[in-house]
Amino acid sequence: MAQLLKNYCLKKHNTFGIEAKARYFFEFEQQQEILEFLQKNNIIDIQYLILGGGSNLLFTEDFDGLILHPNIKGIDVIEEDDDTVLLRVGANEDWDEFVNWCVDHNYGGIENLSLIPGAVGASPVQNIGAYGVEVKEVIETVEAVSIETKNAVAFSNAHCEFDYRNSVFKNEYKNLFIITHVQFRLQKQPEFKVHYGAVSKELEAYGEINLKNIREVIIKIRESKLPNPEELGNAGSFFKNPIVDKEKANKLKAQYENLPTYEVNDFETKLAAGWLIEQCDWKGKRFGDAGVHKDQALVLVNYGNAKGNDILKLANDIRKSVMFKFGVKLEMEVNAI
Ligand code: FAD
Ligand code: EPU
Repeated sequence: MAQLLKNYCLKKHNTFGIEAKARYFFEFEQQQEILEFLQKNNIIDIQYLILGGGSNLLFTEDFDGLILHPNIKGIDVIEEDDDTVLLRVGANEDWDEFVNWCVDHNYGGIENLSLIPGAVGASPVQNIGAYGVEVKEVIETVEAVSIETKNAVAFSNAHCEFDYRNSVFKNEYKNLFIITHVQFRLQKQPEFKVHYGAVSKELEAYGEINLKNIREVIIKIRESKLPNPEELGNAGSFFKNPIVDKEKANKLKAQYENLPTYEVNDFETKLAAGWLIEQCDWKGKRFGDAGVHKDQALVLVNYGNAKGNDILKLANDIRKSVMFKFGVKLEMEVNAI
């Protein structure tokens, strides 16, 4: 059932573990409930935020507005043939539980995205990716409710304009649509993608390559690199890996031969932000309760009582020093609120 709460504490709703309050918090379990709410309340002109699992955002102060939290559940098979299955999944299914469910049913395509925190409804927003796979490869349709027109709408994959950590929902449709369901087309005879980083090497110890073993290896690698937000507040990579033109990348490579680079296309190269930040000597640094993780310089952490602005200040200092040393602009992946 839908409920509207007042002065609601958000600490458990953000993986940074930042203390912040929302003036209003509206939680709903059905698409119909949010449609009715929007018809009764014209919210387009007030401050509002759509919140999933809070694993990719940073509250910098109390939120003096309305938080909309879809709590829509359910995994339904809506089409199936010998090769593929089409699943319709509610926005608040936990992403990793959904991956686990697919692996259990032997549906392939998202096993490399194991252990990414957050809700299914947020997965298209930044086109989540890891270990050589992006969710855009399996999304067929994104179902949403328009805050402006107060109607249910559906976006095809092409309409979502997916890119590296990007989609139309971060750009011209930012904050205009509440994603209620996502439809995924998964494979019954999957092709495994195991050539990223240490994945294939780790798999050697498992004998057989199958969805379950790939999931286990990915979880093992991630647990060895990334802090668990339940133990140490964080939101994963704080910045995107910067994409620069080839000429700039070549110049940097000539100067710093160890710089990790990834070819994007004939003109652009992606650089490893974690490496750039580590070279600027930030890794493991701590300022009060805000810090840079000791094993992964791309992850900023809250040791307990950091304020959102402490983390943001640290992020800005990091950006300045990377710009100063390398002439490279870091763009935030995390959404500062
Ligand atoms: P939130 O943080 O709640 O929201 C993120 C953004 O999406 C906000 O702008 C919000 O307004 C919008 N949004 C959320 N739900 C909806 C909705 N239903 N409709 C419309 N807009 C919505 N990301 C990766 O891509 N790859 C990784 O490997 C990865 N690893 C991570 C590891 C750790 C330890 C952590 C903490 C985070 C990691 N992330 C990673 C980032 C994060 O998990 C993903 O971005 C995830 O999809 C965020 O989901 P969420 O439900 O928590 O979204
Ligand atoms: N590196 C360093 N120092 C560091 C961290 C990394 O030198 O402190 C170097 C590594 O040695 C490696 C390179 O940078 O050569 C890349 O590091 P890693 O493989 O750990 O991945 P990443 O680029 O830091 C990206 C994603 C992660 C995703 C992993 C695996 C972005 C912004 N981050 O991290 O996504 O899980 O690859 O695919 O693209 C997230 O988005 O929140 C996230 C965690």
